[in-house]
Amino acid sequence: MVNVRTEEEVKKIAEASRVVAIVLQELAANMKPGMNTEQINTMAEDRIKEFGAKSAFRGYRGYPSSMCVSINDEIVHGIPSSKKIIHEGDIVSLDFGVQLDGFFGDAAVTVPVGSVSELARNLLKTTEESLYLAIKDARVGNRLYDISSAIQNFAEANGFSVVRDFVGHGIGKSLHEDPQIPNYGQPGKGIKLEKGMVFALEPMINAGDYRIKIDPDGWTARTYDGSLSAHFEHTVVVDYDHGVVLSKVN
Ligand code: MF3
Ligand code: CO
Repeated sequence: MVNVRTEEEVKKIAEASRVVAIVLQELAANMKPGMNTEQINTMAEDRIKEFGAKSAFRGYRGYPSSMCVSINDEIVHGIPSSKKIIHEGDIVSLDFGVQLDGFFGDAAVTVPVGSVSELARNLLKTTEESLYLAIKDARVGNRLYDISSAIQNFAEANGFSVVRDFVGHGIGKSLHEDPQIPNYGQPGKGIKLEKGMVFALEPMINAGDYRIKIDPDGWTARTYDGSLSAHFEHTVVVDYDHGVVLSKVN
């Protein structure tokens, strides 16, 4: 069952999502070569206390940190660690979700550290643009996999591949609600979208092969072939003409 949220509920999800957006923006602005990923996690934790929000990730299925920080060939679910150092030329995915007053928000951004390769720049640009195409398609009159196919078509047209093992999701009173939203699929298929459905749309795009492997830590997902991977995510409410981003700063 896919929830359709009241205006009141959408406002609450937007408040949680705004906190996520603010924190991500600050983390991205403060990221410097030489930092370790645990420091980034600590910054996020300190900041959400000021908003009275709680990490949506910590404790989720036993996840041990407040956010995910994934470097280069790491796709998602990188566990912050004092041993993981950020270097000039890296691309770093910051994925963060919070709970505020019973409602959830979730977003992610991949940030270039200093100057990065042309391939990395193209991958970031394509992945972020694929998210905005998806947001445009999160509208009444469309079906769910119109969103999925928009992401897939754009990513593949640019020579990249779409991760299959992780999906976008409904969000609201839990971090993960129905429906699952693959980043690949057939246009015209899936449920009809209704105004007030709230989705976390999150393309994960690899420069090489779409396949993944999981580290011995049981969480960190990386590309099977060692190629770069990027991840952008917004919490979005379905509306008449296009989706409306809730995970924004104002
Ligand atoms: N943004 C990811 C998701 O929505 C992160 C969740 S992983 C967690 O699935 F386990 F850390 F929560
Ligand atoms: Co998510």
